[in-house]
Amino acid sequence: MPIFDYQTEDAIGSVYSVDTGTVLLSVSNLDALRRMQVNHLVVLRSSRAGQHLIGLINKIMRKALVGVNEDEQDDNDIQDDSIAVENIVRLTLIGTLLDAVGTEQNVFRRTLETVPEIDAPCFMLGGERLTGFMRAISKQIVEGQEPLSLGKYTLDEEADAWIDGNRFFQRHAVVVGSTGSGKSWTVARILEQVAQLPNASALLFDIHGEYSPLDGDGISHLKVAGPGDLTANKTLADGVLYLPYWLLTYEEMLAMLLDRSDQNAPNQAMVFNREVTDAKRAYLESSKKDEVLANFTIDSPVPFEIQAVLERLIFLNEERVEGARKGTTKAGDFNGKLSRFIQRLDAKRQDRRLGFMFSAGDDAMRYEWMQELATVFLGSTKVRGAGGVKIIDFSEVPSDILPLIIGLVARVVFSVQQWTDKDKQHPVALLCDEAHLYIPERHESGVSEQGLKSFERIAKEGRKYGVGLAVISQRPAEVNRTVLSQCNNFVAMRLTNAEDQSVIRRLMPDTLGGFAELLPILDIGEALVVGDAAMLPSRIRIDEPTKHPSSATVDFWDRWAAENVEDGIADAVEALRKQQSSAE
Ligand SMILES: Nc1ncnc2c1ncn2[C@@H]1O[C@H](COP(=O)(O)OP(=O)(O)OP(=O)(O)O)[C@@H](O)[C@H]1O
Ligand SMILES: [Mg+2]
Repeated sequence: MPIFDYQTEDAIGSVYSVDTGTVLLSVSNLDALRRMQVNHLVVLRSSRAGQHLIGLINKIMRKALVGVNEDEQDDNDIQDDSIAVENIVRLTLIGTLLDAVGTEQNVFRRTLETVPEIDAPCFMLGGERLTGFMRAISKQIVEGQEPLSLGKYTLDEEADAWIDGNRFFQRHAVVVGSTGSGKSWTVARILEQVAQLPNASALLFDIHGEYSPLDGDGISHLKVAGPGDLTANKTLADGVLYLPYWLLTYEEMLAMLLDRSDQNAPNQAMVFNREVTDAKRAYLESSKKDEVLANFTIDSPVPFEIQAVLERLIFLNEERVEGARKGTTKAGDFNGKLSRFIQRLDAKRQDRRLGFMFSAGDDAMRYEWMQELATVFLGSTKVRGAGGVKIIDFSEVPSDILPLIIGLVARVVFSVQQWTDKDKQHPVALLCDEAHLYIPERHESGVSEQGLKSFERIAKEGRKYGVGLAVISQRPAEVNRTVLSQCNNFVAMRLTNAEDQSVIRRLMPDTLGGFAELLPILDIGEALVVGDAAMLPSRIRIDEPTKHPSSATVDFWDRWAAENVEDGIADAVEALRKQQSSAE
């Protein structure tokens, strides 16, 4: 049965003018005009039988032209019939509903196969017809795939809002909203469905450790080792992650170790390059990796002894060579020039907070370590026998090198995937919470520049290799524009800051007109969903996830009003000193 069984006499108005995707309606029925609302849907009769154009209302205008029939005016008294009222409604066409395509009934297409004709009748879309329409759309999305459900349409609470899980991850997604608008909950809602799939593979970068309550068969938790984990000798088997320094590229190492304002910086970089290359070569020679040896570069992820490099640098820094006259000596080429570099390297090496890199243990110094790590990152539920959704807790990584470390993980994932045979590539999604911290628009340091590179590549080329990106942020204006512009799906929650709104508005398809105006007035947990994965640009009330991220908003007033409080300050100060949470 066609859903749109409108009769001409149901019309609320007719097409007044048409301009590519924008249509002006003249609405004769005042009652209908009152019931119309911006961002609601209307149906236009198409010139082709069995097709209906769907429009999204942008603007409702009522213009009164007083005294049109001037000659009929008696005295100063304006009669009702002397006021000509023009009721104009502006809409954007968003697609076509076909009564039937082959054996399929009520098929929605996002294309406009025809444009409406002048005077074509227009109908309200509400009540049962709306529910029928929304269901038809959902059915179409769900057909042939496991559904990804977000919640319910605000427009029609009867209809489930599904999105296309393939397109959502294929063409990258953005989840934005001011703090407390419900992004983390939305991510949890999506992830718990990802985890249900028998062969899922996704990584979530959890900066504050707020996703620890999420659990279940498909979910596993990993944590970048903090000082406490080092002391307790935790390993990968305990879900503790080490990212040894030898995984870093040369540029990444320099970003961390080199002070570019030092006048000896070029010398330091040059010597470091030479010594690291030598150390990697020595490793490859002693472990008889001849093939790798023939082609390796300084950036190749090959283990080497940083201790040996440091000793060489110290030697060169103190070296004296034979002078011009026999029996005399003079300072070597690098004598005294490496002091500050050595100091920085040594300080990093001894920093307990960087233990996950520099004190990763013998295990992480093995050649095979990288493939074990990559298996953890990229392996799906089946491959690893553990959760396909991997939540990586970065809460103990110092914030100054956070971009570098997350970028490193993303780079390892992307490059291993890139080198995997096409027929063996298993798609993987990277979900980046608090993305403004490590995919920044403006980078002040080399550290964030290095991290950003990985994400820019994934945003641009990830689709081809089956690496999907979901950028999650409360400050879209501070997230890198190149990365954002590659994202084709938007889940935009309440956004109050004008700068952030305008960034999102510019990224959304401009045919949507006033849809983005809703951003500041959305409720908590409500989102505008626009893009590839959603058939219709829609406002959706996101359902609560079964397990809530621990990002709960603190009730100041209630807590202040409560009588009993536990004092945790002394423990906190001690934890701060030990760089280790007192709960451990
Ligand atoms: N779908 C929802 N339904 C009902 N309440 C919600 C929903 N989403 C979020 N909330 C409420 O809003 C609070 C904040 O949500 P959430 O932690 O997801 O915000 P956020 O956008 O991630 O914030 P931040 O930017 O600070 O990380 C939650 O603790 C919850 O009380
Ligand atoms: Mg959050």
